[in-house]
Amino acid sequence: MHRLEGLLSSILLLISIANSHRTEPFCNPPRVSPDDPNVVVLMVDDLGWGDLQSYGNPAQEETPIEKMVREGTRFTNAYSADSMCSPSRAGFITGRLPIRIGVTGGARVFIPQDIGGLPKNERTMAEMFKERGFATGMVGKWHLGINEHNNTDGSHLPSRRGFDYVGVNLPFTNVWECDTTQKMFPDGPNATKCFLYDGDEIVQQPMVFDDMTVNLVDDFKFFLEERKTEPTRPFFFYFSFPHVHSAQFANSEFLHSSMRGLYGDNINEMAWAVGEVLDSLTSSGMAENTLVILMSDHGPHAELCLNGGSTAGLKGGKSNSYEGGFRIPFVAWQPGTIPAGRVSHEVISSMDLYKTFYDKLPCEAAEKVKQQLLPLDGTNIWSELKGKRSKKEKSLSRVRPIFYYCNSHLMAVRFGRHKVHFKTSPIFRNGTDENTKQWCPGGKPLDDWYVSQKCPEDELILHDPPLVFDVVYDPYEMYPLVDDDIVIPIRGIASDLILDHRFSIKPTHQQLGRFNSSVMPCCDPPLCKCNKLKKRPYTQLQMLRKLREISEEEELLESVYGPEN
Ligand SMILES: *[C@@H]1O[C@H](CO)[C@@H](O)[C@H](O)[C@H]1NC(C)=O
Ligand SMILES: *[C@@H]1O[C@H](CO)[C@@H](O)[C@H](O)[C@H]1NC(C)=O
Ligand SMILES: *[C@@H]1O[C@H](CO)[C@@H](O)[C@H](O)[C@H]1NC(C)=O
Ligand SMILES: *[C@@H]1O[C@H](CO)[C@@H](O)[C@H](O)[C@H]1NC(C)=O
Repeated sequence: MHRLEGLLSSILLLISIANSHRTEPFCNPPRVSPDDPNVVVLMVDDLGWGDLQSYGNPAQEETPIEKMVREGTRFTNAYSADSMCSPSRAGFITGRLPIRIGVTGGARVFIPQDIGGLPKNERTMAEMFKERGFATGMVGKWHLGINEHNNTDGSHLPSRRGFDYVGVNLPFTNVWECDTTQKMFPDGPNATKCFLYDGDEIVQQPMVFDDMTVNLVDDFKFFLEERKTEPTRPFFFYFSFPHVHSAQFANSEFLHSSMRGLYGDNINEMAWAVGEVLDSLTSSGMAENTLVILMSDHGPHAELCLNGGSTAGLKGGKSNSYEGGFRIPFVAWQPGTIPAGRVSHEVISSMDLYKTFYDKLPCEAAEKVKQQLLPLDGTNIWSELKGKRSKKEKSLSRVRPIFYYCNSHLMAVRFGRHKVHFKTSPIFRNGTDENTKQWCPGGKPLDDWYVSQKCPEDELILHDPPLVFDVVYDPYEMYPLVDDDIVIPIRGIASDLILDHRFSIKPTHQQLGRFNSSVMPCCDPPLCKCNKLKKRPYTQLQMLRKLREISEEEELLESVYGPEN
């Protein structure tokens, strides 16, 4: 029995030692409380504004996310930092627009042969929390760079960017070519793009989807279990789903669970994991002290026909600057602090979270070692999250405008109820194109379409004078306002905002598009093929506990009946 306990603690110890501490804590953490909560961010990939039942989808099943919505607050005017994965995540995690960080150019997202990543002078949310004494952890999709020098240096991995604990993770992403059904790719997955890491080590190539969701959840539970040893110290956990990006997948429990097909199955599986996270916080007695945010990284990849999600009628989708590309589902949950069942129409941005925690957790010692304070693009939304913002206060949409970029092109700006488009990109599958039927026979995409992925200058549509929409009356951007006494000054305000904004952007090195194929991860070279993912530590813990129960039972039996034989 003692041996087992020893084993338990040595597993915990080993895990803590394996994670070297690169960012130092400068300040003591606040004692965890409802006003200084743990923070868990649940980031879903490509989930559309209209993909959840609670956001109006007529075919998606009720899931644990609907319970989260009933117990928390749902936002209808939440925006991502960009409409593609890497820049939107870069924006969220630094609180700064991707244009400031240089997450522009190249393929618009990091691909395995990119040598760039988040610049080291940027401070990630994890680093910021860590400087303030929080414990930090993550699992799932990263997509903010991998290697810089060779295929194992891992310079840009989450463990180098403030995360103490890193479980099962996708340093790149789940892509369509990872599909294992052989329906779209008869030769099976393209392993060069499909790999899974455990911490800093590549462990599956190609990655296997069957146990992926369970493993992600297990690693979250393991982190939580370890946190119980320091109950007053707050933590930050980034749970970043590979769902519902193509290729969609579902294990045997969720396959055919949705009337909507595989896309809905994939949502149901993801939502199960959300339920597990919330339930384990509740059963650990941590719910009142933990703020959980669920959001998408941007709009759905609507170009993928039935493999893409729903914008609920918002125009466009992933990769362009219409509302369908930027407006995201966003749910906040913290029983007792975040009002239950509330719907907020206030304009918020994924970048506001950084600014909110930064303001709430002053740490002068950390500022002293940073040469300069980098300008943040968000605003503090703590009182809005709590539903305590006074009606008399200026609307957040006027406090900080929403800027819509397509790569390095500034396309549009929203302030107040108005959105002004200077440029737009063409919309694929816009209903006027006869080829749509050819591209999506029976709703099945023939290719991984990205009409506006790179936003090349020659494909952009210039609007002079700029188009103005009232996105409160007309979130679908159907009816540009006609020139009148209101529209002309709105264009003037938009021009001023954009001028000021441009002045604030300092030239920086572009991180995307510097390729060297020798940095591409490869498991067991030269094969680049493996499956050596270990049993998850939480599962091991549970197994050890079971063993302990059995041995306790044996001891009891022994004490009553004496030893066997
Ligand atoms: C990879 O690069 C890192 C950093 O430059 C270096 O420390 C390491 O030795 C290199 N590994 C190999 C196998 O060359
Ligand atoms: C797999 O993807 C790589 C790029 O990552 C590409 O060069 C290669 O041609 C692809 N292989 C197949 C069989 O499609
Ligand atoms: C509709 O799609 C076609 C083909 O992609 C494109 O030429 C056209 O500009 C699109 N229209 C709009 C309004 O985006
Ligand atoms: C790519 O990386 C390898 C290994 O570090 C290096 O020898 C080579 O010069 C690099 N190629 C380019 C084009 O930078």
